[in-house]
Amino acid sequence: MKDIDRNKLSADDWDEQTFPRPKVQEFDRVVDRAVSRRGFLGGALAFGSGAAVMGTAFLKGTSAMAQQATRFAFEGIPAQTDGTVHVPEGYSWKVTARWGDKLFSDAPEFDPETGVAFEGSDRVFGENTDGMELFHVAGREILVVNSEYTNNEINLPQTEDGTPQNAEQVQLLQNLQGVTVMELAEGPEGWAIVVDSPYNRRIHHRTPMRFDGPAAGHDLLKTEADPEGLTSLGTMNNCGSGRTPWGTYLTCEENFNGYFGATGEMPEDETLAAGYARYGIGSDGWGYNYHLHDPRFDVSTTPNEPHRAGYIVEIDPANPEATPVKHTALGRFKHENAATALAPDGRLVVYMGDDERGEFMYKWVSRDIYVPGGDTSTLLSEGQLYAAVFEDDMSGRWAALTPEATGMEPAEIAIFTRTAASAVGATTMDRPEWIAVNPVAVEGYCCLTNNSRRGALNDDGSVRTNAGGDPMSVNAPNPRETNEYGQILRWRPAGDDHGSEEFEWDLYVMAGNPMVHDDAYAGSEAIKEGNLFNSPDGMQIDSTGMIWIQTDGDDSNEGDFAGMGNNQMLAGDPVTGEIRRFLTGPNGCEVTGLTWSTDRRTMFVGIQHPGRPFPDGPDSLPRSSIVAVKRDDGALVG
Ligand code: FEO
Ligand code: CA
Ligand code: CA
Ligand code: CA
Repeated sequence: MKDIDRNKLSADDWDEQTFPRPKVQEFDRVVDRAVSRRGFLGGALAFGSGAAVMGTAFLKGTSAMAQQATRFAFEGIPAQTDGTVHVPEGYSWKVTARWGDKLFSDAPEFDPETGVAFEGSDRVFGENTDGMELFHVAGREILVVNSEYTNNEINLPQTEDGTPQNAEQVQLLQNLQGVTVMELAEGPEGWAIVVDSPYNRRIHHRTPMRFDGPAAGHDLLKTEADPEGLTSLGTMNNCGSGRTPWGTYLTCEENFNGYFGATGEMPEDETLAAGYARYGIGSDGWGYNYHLHDPRFDVSTTPNEPHRAGYIVEIDPANPEATPVKHTALGRFKHENAATALAPDGRLVVYMGDDERGEFMYKWVSRDIYVPGGDTSTLLSEGQLYAAVFEDDMSGRWAALTPEATGMEPAEIAIFTRTAASAVGATTMDRPEWIAVNPVAVEGYCCLTNNSRRGALNDDGSVRTNAGGDPMSVNAPNPRETNEYGQILRWRPAGDDHGSEEFEWDLYVMAGNPMVHDDAYAGSEAIKEGNLFNSPDGMQIDSTGMIWIQTDGDDSNEGDFAGMGNNQMLAGDPVTGEIRRFLTGPNGCEVTGLTWSTDRRTMFVGIQHPGRPFPDGPDSLPRSSIVAVKRDDGALVG
């Protein structure tokens, strides 16, 4: 594991190279033999022995394609392989914020060669921009943005290979991650950070926060520093985002496991060891080396600390003094994002994905109803957590994670949520990334980004499983083995009620490459030469119901990925099925994070881990950035 340089790769690429795709597959690409592209598009078809049967419902929603006039306000743009951002004719973009930009006038200046100085590194915009939401607070535009992880060679350029050598360098990395709250304002030069705004705030890996929900105060959350198990330091690996109806921000802790390691023996306690195995906590960590310089991350001395991360954290953008809250009721897993909706009766619904191969989709339904201006304090702590079960007949249900169904206590369900979901037979998915709820139709969408191990076999011929032993055979919503392209799942809750325990589902789109393949790997009907992409990840649905899809995939532009170019953002029309490419990112980047100004005349798009020369030219360290995209005529952009 050590000979792969974590610092030169995105998190996904590193994972792929560390755990490479297996050579032997369950069905030896049975899909190739069994399914022609025409057959796949034509409706009912079988995927061969043991595989899923997909019915005509797959085509529901796309049958109207081509009958309707386009609803797009732009022409799709070609794929690109260069080092900058491209948008359609009639639109333009500008950089709004780069990691290291000052939030306060006393923060250090960014140095193009050495980056950010240690002193004051918690007073600048963080690294690796990801999920973000904009809030209108007292007439001001407040952007809340995740900083997912660090690019150590860029953030610690004085080190040989980006490996932190001492506590100060670890703390610098900790300061650059977490969440940034910052006021933005639009002037003649475009959008910029309002330096010294009273709303500006950095929340990082050491910011105090409190737990609520069933796990708060449980023994598994207690440490020497927090003997009551009620307060935590920091929020980690903040990936996607969400927002509540009452105007707070939800940040989602994803690959928290990578920050922990051991300088001594790993804990032998059975419960702890099983949890570590399920969540991927090992002695080496992922190269952050926190455990060597910050004992809190050394599980040989602080074994419960990993139980204190992996949650959804609520932040109030209107009150810089407010303590963030870790909501354990929404479960502990590698949270991607949190898509909220209201059931017709007013209960709050939160859809969530666990981004790991073969892990699950989840839903939270509050016990109490949301009343505007009323008490919201129980809506993310009292209610029911569910995991998704998909059937081959295009039906599905949300299986409640109750003590009766799982054999676990409420606190255990909150801390070892993956184990609880395995117990109710949740369906193994191809890495659930962002979920989005359509504001103009009662339906949800989930990006299933890819799964190189779908359908893979172990050496003894058995099917590969997730870390909980649940098989990753191909199944109806994840129908392709060695799924390198990904798909977007859609579901419609029964009775047009997001609170319902039943739903119908189909695949909105299967990404693929019809220029290279003529089988299911060509993708679904909407995929054409002009809109090729792989690995859908970020997603938002705008106020008109158009779906914005961001990618975090293979940008080699070769082989199976030829013609796809750099990572990108596309727009999809759920009514006609048409998909157009709207934006291409610079080489090496992932496009992730999307939100709008209050007047909907600007869209803010995140460019994570670009390569040089983005955005400051070849003589500067590259910088993850938020760009503002506008129409040249000033019209609405979503
Ligand atoms: Fe941070 Fe699953 O993306
Ligand atoms: Ca990422
Ligand atoms: Ca993501
Ligand atoms: Ca991803």
